[in-house]
Amino acid sequence: MTVTASTQVGIVGAGPAGLLLSHLLALRGIDSIVVENRSRAYCEARQRAGLLEAGTVELLRQVGLGQRMDVEGLEHGGIYLQFAGERHHLDFRDLTGGRWVTIWAQTEIVKDLIQSRLAAGAQVEFEVSDTEVADLDDDRPVLRYTDAAGGRHEVRCEAIAGCDGFHGICRDCMPPGLVRVAERGYPYSWLGILATVPPSTDELIYSRHEDGFALHTMRTPQVSRLYLQVPADEDIEHWPDDRIWAELRHRLELPGWELKDGPITEKAISPMRSFVASPMRYRRLFLAGDAAHIVPPTGAKGLNLAMADVTVLAEALTSLLRDGNHHPVDSYSDASLRRVWRATHFSWWMTSMLHVDPGPDPFGAELQLAQLRYVTSSRAAATTLAENYTGYFPLHWS
Ligand code: FAD
Ligand code: PHB
Repeated sequence: MTVTASTQVGIVGAGPAGLLLSHLLALRGIDSIVVENRSRAYCEARQRAGLLEAGTVELLRQVGLGQRMDVEGLEHGGIYLQFAGERHHLDFRDLTGGRWVTIWAQTEIVKDLIQSRLAAGAQVEFEVSDTEVADLDDDRPVLRYTDAAGGRHEVRCEAIAGCDGFHGICRDCMPPGLVRVAERGYPYSWLGILATVPPSTDELIYSRHEDGFALHTMRTPQVSRLYLQVPADEDIEHWPDDRIWAELRHRLELPGWELKDGPITEKAISPMRSFVASPMRYRRLFLAGDAAHIVPPTGAKGLNLAMADVTVLAEALTSLLRDGNHHPVDSYSDASLRRVWRATHFSWWMTSMLHVDPGPDPFGAELQLAQLRYVTSSRAAATTLAENYTGYFPLHWS
């Protein structure tokens, strides 16, 4: 037997995009349901992003999600770029007239969002299966799912948001031929670790080394996060902890600066991809976040883009559902794609400048070094990096 119900917005996916959308809609008095095929514990523990643009930080504060972030988040005013045995500092506050970034893990944002949604009595269904969206040519599309106990549900909605990540189902529910995909693969992946050791640096170090890229970032004053460029189809079994630390030291250390090591509590390999699907809307189905676009993590943009999408979408859906005004939903896709393509270019540029392609390429290597020297010597070039890294498009939430 199928249980039927109705709500205003059906949201597929309890990642940062889906949860934040549900939260923002609630602030506007709009009801939603969130369905998620993983468990709550899995969503809260999934290690991914860590770096927030200033605009994302301000949004979280404005919508009541800033308390823990303001106490435990780590504000950074710049980054280090390292290449050819030199480390250079870029001072974002100076270059951008005061903008900064904050280290605050995606796991913590998701925990705060879930806690706040459940405390507000919102319907967030974990461990669902067989999610379907249908009747998309109707003004009342339908969301179907099977709950954790095996009960089948059908929810009539006034709009559906596909916040179900790159491997979700919603993008493929758009009519055949509507969606255009633009993508680029990269011949390398990132091996990421979480380690119980205080960071060896005050701000992030992006290192272009002739044997591959490395990044030193962090989570807390006690926990470091580090990444290594590895071959695209690398097997994590080839990377025992000792080999990881040796390679990180090789790519990050300079005379007079040592990398501290400690127990590795988590390690995983993530592929690198640029992918943009457009449009991000079909009638009353809207895509947001990784469901519509993926960037390689070198620019730290994916989570920031996901949160920007749903901020625009929440305002647009409010106009549609509360005031019957179609104009903001009509411009949702184009407005979001302008931001997405800026971040896509920036992420591709950072990635291409800092990673080493497999196989000998002396011409490419010299171009990278020329670009890195330019970014670290020209104020104009450094400002380009800084204004993109800290967030080029302002976010509006009134
Ligand atoms: P997701 O987080 O993928 O959430 C989608 C949710 O939908 C998932 O919980 C999934 O289980 C659920 N789902 C999927 N299919 C279904 C279904 N059929 N039914 C129900 N639920 C479903 N971004 C940054 O901005 N800064 C960074 O520093 C940064 N670092 C990164 C480092 C790494 C190593 C990686 C891999 C990513 C990084 N990112 C970063 C990117 C960022 O993590 C993602 O862009 C972000 O998670 C996107 O959020 P989302 O909600 O759109 O998608
Ligand atoms: C992270 O902290 O995980 C992180 C930071 C910056 C990046 C990518 C990942 O560019």
